[in-house]
Amino acid sequence: MNNKKLLVGNLKMYMDTRHVISYLENLKEIDLPKELVLCPTNIYLPYFLELNCNIGVQNVAYEEGGAYTGEVSAYQLHEMNVKYAIVGHSERRIYFKETNEEINQKIRQCLNANIVPILCIGETQEEFESGNTKNVIRKQIIDCLFGFDETEINNVVIAYEPVWAIGSGKIPDNNQIDDVVKYIKEVVDNVLKCHDINVLYGGSVSSKNIETLEKLNYINGYLIGKSATDYQEILKMVDFIFS
Ligand code: PGA
Repeated sequence: MNNKKLLVGNLKMYMDTRHVISYLENLKEIDLPKELVLCPTNIYLPYFLELNCNIGVQNVAYEEGGAYTGEVSAYQLHEMNVKYAIVGHSERRIYFKETNEEINQKIRQCLNANIVPILCIGETQEEFESGNTKNVIRKQIIDCLFGFDETEINNVVIAYEPVWAIGSGKIPDNNQIDDVVKYIKEVVDNVLKCHDINVLYGGSVSSKNIETLEKLNYINGYLIGKSATDYQEILKMVDFIFS
């Protein structure tokens, strides 16, 4: 990846067809940067692929192909020109009981199919309050990236998303984020011997706090949920970060 920041929009299951049509209508004539990655619900992928930014997905199958009803493989996504896949989002860990081992397999599928996995990690409110953030994060990194070599890990992006900051409007202060992101890079560096990992911050990012977040020292971009469903918010953040 180049040294430009990455801005990833996780559109979750927020949009209906009418919203998608007006959103795309407003973005399609704009020369969007390739560092902007929009991740819609899968059924809308063909429409989003007409934009000139990069397109990603919110999840991927942990198997290569075959009889897996309802799943979409990394290879199928690659064929459609999808370049990124969010894996291990906390909503998938919590509601769909995804484990670090499954997430590890999903990363394997992405790397085999030439898709950049965006590995989400982060502590819950309870883990944060009990001072366990770093332990939790260390385990998530080591388990999810188990068995990959340096070149492979270099193709992974990590998104640090405190679970308590997602969709809550609460956001850690810059010192807290910097401290954890620096720690993530140290773990990847010291334990996994990979010296160039990119780390995003996610959780209640919007055009209102992007100026403050841009003062962070170790961050390589952002993973944005709710506010990415508003095209004007996207354009404000693109403008602020890339121009
Ligand atoms: P949020 O979501 O920006 O709505 O807090 C972020 C995410 O879940 O990736």
